[in-house]
Amino acid sequence: MKVGILGSTGVVGREIIRQLELYNFPINELKLFCSSKNKGQSIIFDSEIILTQEVCDDSFDNLDILFGATSKEVVQKYEKQLESLKGIFIDNSSLYRMKPDVKLIIPEINFNTININDKIIANPNCSTIITLMALFPIHQINNINKIIITTFQATSGAGQKGMNELNNQMLNMEYDEFDENNVFSRKILNNIIPLIGSIDVYGNTTEEQKMANETCKILKKSILVESTCVRVPLIRSHSMSIYIECENLIDLKKCVDSIEKFEGAVVTDAKDSRNFPCPLDVVYSNEILVGRIRKSLSNNNALSLWCCGDQICKGAATNAVQIANMYINKFLKNNMV
Ligand SMILES: NC(=O)c1ccc[n+]([C@@H]2O[C@H](COP(=O)([O-])OP(=O)(O)OC[C@H]3O[C@@H](n4cnc5c(N)ncnc54)[C@H](OP(=O)(O)O)[C@@H]3O)[C@@H](O)[C@H]2O)c1
Repeated sequence: MKVGILGSTGVVGREIIRQLELYNFPINELKLFCSSKNKGQSIIFDSEIILTQEVCDDSFDNLDILFGATSKEVVQKYEKQLESLKGIFIDNSSLYRMKPDVKLIIPEINFNTININDKIIANPNCSTIITLMALFPIHQINNINKIIITTFQATSGAGQKGMNELNNQMLNMEYDEFDENNVFSRKILNNIIPLIGSIDVYGNTTEEQKMANETCKILKKSILVESTCVRVPLIRSHSMSIYIECENLIDLKKCVDSIEKFEGAVVTDAKDSRNFPCPLDVVYSNEILVGRIRKSLSNNNALSLWCCGDQICKGAATNAVQIANMYINKFLKNNMV
């Protein structure tokens, strides 16, 4: 396979490289693209040094799979080059997610909707992926009608520059007056910021809208999704506090069993006061941990739970590499040399 990564020097791009190695992905040639700022950097893949390069007119032409790991604005800039891409484009940005003719895919949930004619496949927002990995098994046994979520999102969700801002503030802790906040709207160290993205006239943010729209698109159902997306001073991994209302009475054991049987999700049951998922437990892990699963005190059709996932792994890179692997197995394996 000839594979490319657009945004290979960023947080998601570097994780895609790690996942390609982990999955032992069949690669004959790997092209690593970035901006002019970082071209010529050495990146090691499979014990070989590959130099990063800028995108030119025919960069994507011969690629079987191109991973997008850059902003929607940058992807938009290369739409002309994407037209001549031989293979498929699996994108992590939000550019194509809500386009009606583009599939929005979490492999464990809806890979079977992809067909050979899909040239662009969109990866959902990281918080949407982690949330639905915990909720989809329940939805399969008892239709979910309403979801209320509060997210706790790490700084790396805003890319390398988000992590750098937290790290700089930690290094300069004693010199508080020198702390700068350029990436986040307020100081993130020792703080939480209840606003991610830009805000609309009704007070909802783009991140909150993404969670609502993408959930309905993936589950093919008009579900009420209310969320408050919150930035927390962590380097890596997102957590969610979730309340759901279902069509029928909650059978707690069946709900827990359904999550336990679902590939990619693991139940960490709070049988004692220390055993529950924490964001630290999932750093660099491809699994979503689910715990604190409990029936609602006031509604027999409702339950609450807590889940954590590494948003750079399953929330982005792992999901994209899984799509690529499954696509190869389903559509390309017989043509591979
Ligand atoms: N971070 C997360 O947790 C996460 C999770 C899910 C989805 N996403 C999405 O994934 C995408 C990448 O996010 P990220 O966090 O990895 O961002 P990032 O760390 O800021 O990395 C951005 C990448 O884009 C490259 N780039 C910038 N301008 C470019 C240009 N003109 N031409 C080619 N490449 C260019 C950068 O290259 P240089 O190094 O040369 O600047 C870098 O490799 C975004 O759409 C984001 O919304 C991120």
